[in-house]
Amino acid sequence: MIDRRRILVTRWLPDTIMDRIGRDYDAWTNGADHLLSGAELVAAAADCEAILCAPGDPLHADVISRLPRCVRAIATFSVGTDHVDVAAARARGLPVFNTPGVLTDATAEITLLLMLGAARRAWEGQKLLRDGKWTGWRPTQLVGTGLSGKRLGIFGMGRIGRAVATRARAFGMEIHYCNRARLPAEQEQGARYWADAEELFSRSEFISLHCPATLETHHLMNAERIDWLPPAAIVINAARGAIVDDEALIAALRCKRVAAAGLDVYTDEPALHAGYRDLDNAYLLPHLGSATLEARTAMGNKALDNLDAFFAGREPPNRVE
Ligand code: DGY
Repeated sequence: MIDRRRILVTRWLPDTIMDRIGRDYDAWTNGADHLLSGAELVAAAADCEAILCAPGDPLHADVISRLPRCVRAIATFSVGTDHVDVAAARARGLPVFNTPGVLTDATAEITLLLMLGAARRAWEGQKLLRDGKWTGWRPTQLVGTGLSGKRLGIFGMGRIGRAVATRARAFGMEIHYCNRARLPAEQEQGARYWADAEELFSRSEFISLHCPATLETHHLMNAERIDWLPPAAIVINAARGAIVDDEALIAALRCKRVAAAGLDVYTDEPALHAGYRDLDNAYLLPHLGSATLEARTAMGNKALDNLDAFFAGREPPNRVE
């Protein structure tokens, strides 16, 4: 009988992925699929050689320092790694692997949904119907903003930013972007590059954030930068909650300095800042960016490809540097 490696799988993954795990690994699984606390995570890792974790898991430095010595690697079911203290893992000799590339389309699609939902007042429409308050069509009812002909500013023109640009072009939007480096022309596809964030923000009738959450991007969308936006701009965030200063955005939405926001990610998920709850011009989704069966299946396969390679002594395809 082949000895199967023991791994800790922190969340319940799509069926085909759980089947692959059951076939190839001896796994501790979380049937109830609740978010594990640091202490639960450490206990569950007791005899495991690797952890397959997911966004929200508290793999902070103190939890990593308490992991049993048998744990040799961390593979995350995500492209984002802000739930893992990568530096602490590295210091402990634990490589971290992630799943880039396979959730690009799904996240770009949800970004367009956020743009449309925010601009076309989809939440207010839903509420009107479900509350039984719709009294019929009116020429001035829930009039929103069109996308066609508008300038979309994309902050962070990586894979997802570029996939958003492709889709937004099909809606007739003019694409502007800010990125660490200017892209080659074949990737720009006519998008206008601004090295300076203020230049981008001041032109963006829609602004969509697609940068990772880092110390530099923490609260990037703050009161000062909101003031750079044209009047009644629309703010979109499908990247990470920490990039937005919630207090500043909520204040701007309240006074309509920002016409609307479409948000899929939040500071301290799953908590929602109370200020968003009663804002009809905030179109909110619960971190659904990668939530398609196609993307989640591909993410699971990628996470397992990383672990398979690691245990086989090959370089895993997606090591986080
Ligand atoms: C990721 O992979 O980082 C996404 O946020 C999950 O949807």
